Amino acid sequence: MDLRILTVPGDGIGTEVTHEAVRVLERVCSRYGHQLHLTEALLGGIAIHKTGNPFPEETRKLALEADATLMGAVGLPEFDKMPPDKRPEKGLLGIRKALGVYANLRPVRTYSALIDSSPLKNHLVEGTDMIIVRELTGGIYYGTPRGITGEGTQAHAVNTMAYTYDEIARILRMAFQLARGRRKKLTSVDKSNVLECSQLWRKVVLEIAPEFPDVTLDHLLVDNCAMQLVLNPRRFDVLVTENMFGDILSDEGGVLAGSIGMLPSASLGDRRPSGAWVGLYEPVHGSAPDIAGQGKANPLGAIGSVAAMLEYSFGLKKEAAAVNAAIEQVLNSGRVTADLKPKGTPATTGEVGAAVCEAI
Ligand code: IPM
Ligand code: MG
Repeated sequence: MDLRILTVPGDGIGTEVTHEAVRVLERVCSRYGHQLHLTEALLGGIAIHKTGNPFPEETRKLALEADATLMGAVGLPEFDKMPPDKRPEKGLLGIRKALGVYANLRPVRTYSALIDSSPLKNHLVEGTDMIIVRELTGGIYYGTPRGITGEGTQAHAVNTMAYTYDEIARILRMAFQLARGRRKKLTSVDKSNVLECSQLWRKVVLEIAPEFPDVTLDHLLVDNCAMQLVLNPRRFDVLVTENMFGDILSDEGGVLAGSIGMLPSASLGDRRPSGAWVGLYEPVHGSAPDIAGQGKANPLGAIGSVAAMLEYSFGLKKEAAAVNAAIEQVLNSGRVTADLKPKGTPATTGEVGAAVCEAI
């Protein structure tokens, strides 16, 4: 099979973890006889430095042409005081919107080898296995009007959370389908005691639920959900929620998994005529400028994102399973990066990448 993949390493540790993820892709392709065609593009802070634009036109074009896009992370401290429009993150929101990847799948698993890496008690995190499905191209991240007017004590800021019926319905159908392929339990998370967007969300959930009579549905308010995630994570199978709630709750997932560096993600849009999903794959973590360039970053979230890409964008289930099995094997060997608090000397980013390649 020909795999035309665009890589977008971005900023900070994004470049380091993407490098390892690409090595793993190369290994899979040589092992299973696929042809890998890689192209690289700029996004985020590096793109602002080189072109003045966090999401250059060239990157948009290459992403639309590629079979799938593999991203690192964006964000640099020198842009911290800039308005949202001029920040690296604007590039990330731009590429998500351009590809129309409205469904962000963020699996959260506690591997038995990592049970001691989480600060939570072992009996709480043991057996955690859920997917957080985050709506990715709507809500308060994109709503208008937005902006700051006035100065000093007269300043006034506004953001808008907005959802249409169809935007809610399509992400819910995706989540119900995923639940169908797993333990058949869906938890919808909202703030319907306060927000109209959430009231519409809950109404759409109730209208769509009869299409999936085999899936058990429940609802949680987002504040309660934040608490249930650490009190009883095993109660979750598939969790579906709007954009900003999903952003916040998925970082909590990092605590369950032992480190946010472990979490992969797949952002999916519509299906192509071939049946493959339009997909953007990125680890959940950020650019972590504090540890960038030191070989400390955990590449397993990025490598897990490669597994997701092989499965969703190329239908290569065997290859995806081989990558996931290799990740587990490396975790069991104990040669992991510092974020996972190994007993001996922590492994470097490159050593972990090499170990995964070797295990494939
Ligand atoms: C994430 C990140 C991004 C988001 C930032 C970097 C814009 O936190 O992917 O979770 O908020 O979507
Ligand atoms: Mg986030």
